[in-house]
Amino acid sequence: MITDLRNRDLISDLDFSREEVETVLDVAWDLKKKRALGQPHAYLDNKTLGMLFFFSSTRTRSSFESGMAQLGGHAAFIESRTTQVSHGDTEKELGEILGRYFDGIAIRHVDWGIGNNYLNNVASASRVPVLNMQDEFYHPHQCLADIMTIQEKKGKDLRGKKIVVSWAYASSYLKPISVPQSLILQMPRFGLDVTLAHPPEFELMPEIMDQAREQAEKFDSKFEVVDDMEAGFEGADIVYAKSWGPLLTTRDQEEGKRIQDQYKDWITDARKMALADKDAIYMHPLPADRDVEVTSEVMDGPQSVVYDQAENRLHAQKAVMALTMR
Ligand code: CP
Repeated sequence: MITDLRNRDLISDLDFSREEVETVLDVAWDLKKKRALGQPHAYLDNKTLGMLFFFSSTRTRSSFESGMAQLGGHAAFIESRTTQVSHGDTEKELGEILGRYFDGIAIRHVDWGIGNNYLNNVASASRVPVLNMQDEFYHPHQCLADIMTIQEKKGKDLRGKKIVVSWAYASSYLKPISVPQSLILQMPRFGLDVTLAHPPEFELMPEIMDQAREQAEKFDSKFEVVDDMEAGFEGADIVYAKSWGPLLTTRDQEEGKRIQDQYKDWITDARKMALADKDAIYMHPLPADRDVEVTSEVMDGPQSVVYDQAENRLHAQKAVMALTMR
């Protein structure tokens, strides 16, 4: 077990090796148990986390903030529009200055071509760990909660089990591609066979696809791509179906919406779930467009694990913070 993750950044899913992710999961289960038993676990007594948000959040903000308090520390919510960022604060200045105030810096910035670079620039200037609360390429803390949830529901030996990471139709906005990209990078490392399903215009980044194939090869799991939601669901043990924008095709909102609107039948419903294994679980990081992306029948049904999945954000993030911010 690798235990020394002190001062490490977590920006891309591959920043931590599989063995290091296993350490995070191990600590996360222990923290989950301690919380259930009401046992104190103030590993970050007097420590502080600065959380800088350039985009809205329900779960990420709440779970990081609550998690820091449960670890005996404090998290400061910093909404970018209330800062001097638009008046000239640079990433280097933020890394230098926030790194002197806080014991960790967490950032959400999903603007295309800006967010990931922003996080890396802050990290280069910071003396404390920088944690990615979602950028335009990766959502690593969501993915840690996802693998934790899958192991809870399907056991720790996932070899030979199939996860379908499927695009789904949404009408609300063009959602980032970070969740499916994180999933295809992380899941093959745990032995899961990954099927990525999406219409042609919803491709993921070629370099991420290459890395996902490399991980699958390295960890002896399968990786395939299909352009048919139903074919993707066939025999799946884990159905992870969510929307993302056609951002590699266009970043124009109107054009993107026109493309999306051609695929309204890519909804997760009971009929499609019946194509999966009878014990398949349904996952979604939330928020979802209810009865557009997924029917309420599935979302609220017995195969759905979305609330356990959301809960595990808390435990997985506490584990990362406790290991990196000590
Ligand atoms: N899943 C997730 O990241 O949720 P929020 O956008 O509400 O933080």
